[in-house]
Amino acid sequence: MILSIESSCDDSSIAITEIKTKKLLLHKKISQELQHSVYGGVVPELAARLHIEALPKILEECTQYFKDLKAIAVTNAPGLSVTLTEGVTMAKALALSLKIPLIGVNHLKGHIYSLFIEKEAIFPITILLVSGGHTQLILANNLNEMKVIGSTIDDSFGESFDKVSKMLKLGYPGGPVIEKFALHGDDSKYELPVPLRQSPLIQFSYSGLKNAVRLAILREEESNNITEETISNISASFQKTAIEHILMKLKKYFKTNPPHNFAIVGGASANKSLRTKVETLCDTFDAKLHLAPMEFCSDNAAMIGRVAVEQYLNNDFVNINEINVQSRVDF
Ligand code: KG4
Ligand code: ZN
Repeated sequence: MILSIESSCDDSSIAITEIKTKKLLLHKKISQELQHSVYGGVVPELAARLHIEALPKILEECTQYFKDLKAIAVTNAPGLSVTLTEGVTMAKALALSLKIPLIGVNHLKGHIYSLFIEKEAIFPITILLVSGGHTQLILANNLNEMKVIGSTIDDSFGESFDKVSKMLKLGYPGGPVIEKFALHGDDSKYELPVPLRQSPLIQFSYSGLKNAVRLAILREEESNNITEETISNISASFQKTAIEHILMKLKKYFKTNPPHNFAIVGGASANKSLRTKVETLCDTFDAKLHLAPMEFCSDNAAMIGRVAVEQYLNNDFVNINEINVQSRVDF
């Protein structure tokens, strides 16, 4: 078995995965959303402090598996340096005391392998990764051959939901709450610009759209018109435009590179409107859409454990003294 640890942002999570069967034997997670909500976003130092409390608490529930562990895996990049360090420190201590090897796992690969928990991996696959830190289109041929085709040039998809939510004073994380308000809103009430509409490049951008939403909110505030209805309409108009941007870029890419397998991963892949619209697009291009179960869309250690199984079988270990934390890398 492998014990895996995830602490790249605001979720403390540990999982136990059986190597031979890829079976997930245990998966626990403590989220810090409530503690960060008052600040409208994740405060790295607070997150690190909360990991110090949460990780040992979860680990106590794993002790019965210690005798069967063959390796310890931990997310070491990309993410917040101060929070990654907490997971890595615990992983090093465990590997050292149990005298078993250490595996460093890339968080983005983890999100991709959230598709394959308790399953065989499917390659090649084209992937849209949408989270709080990333908006990327990726072509994956296998675990070690993953290429970023396009990324955001400023904010990420999930981050833009968080920022709109903050402007509307709806708390953090913004994705679920904006999606909820959008359900009852009129998405044609505000005309917002679809980012990079004229650009032929496969790139994403959310700062212009965020600014347009900011101005719309300002106008409504000036006319004393911030009601539940206004919030719903702004949420719906923003969500429609944010998704329209992704769909336009995907369509452009699919025209020259139609995929057999396509997937959406990352915390924001939980968005139902995004899922439905991408599904329709995939149908048009005869592509099979793969989605991770909802519980594995946001950060979790189960996806890290699933990658670790592959790395264990490839003898891909890292020296305890050489594992380092990197905040900004792709693969
Ligand atoms: O993958 P994740 O848990 O953490 C990162 O690696 O960033 O993703 C969290 C992000 C947050 O920005 C959150 O607002 C967004 O995913 N998110 C959503 C939804 N649920 C979570 N964005 C849009 N719609 C949702 N339903
Ligand atoms: Zn993530």
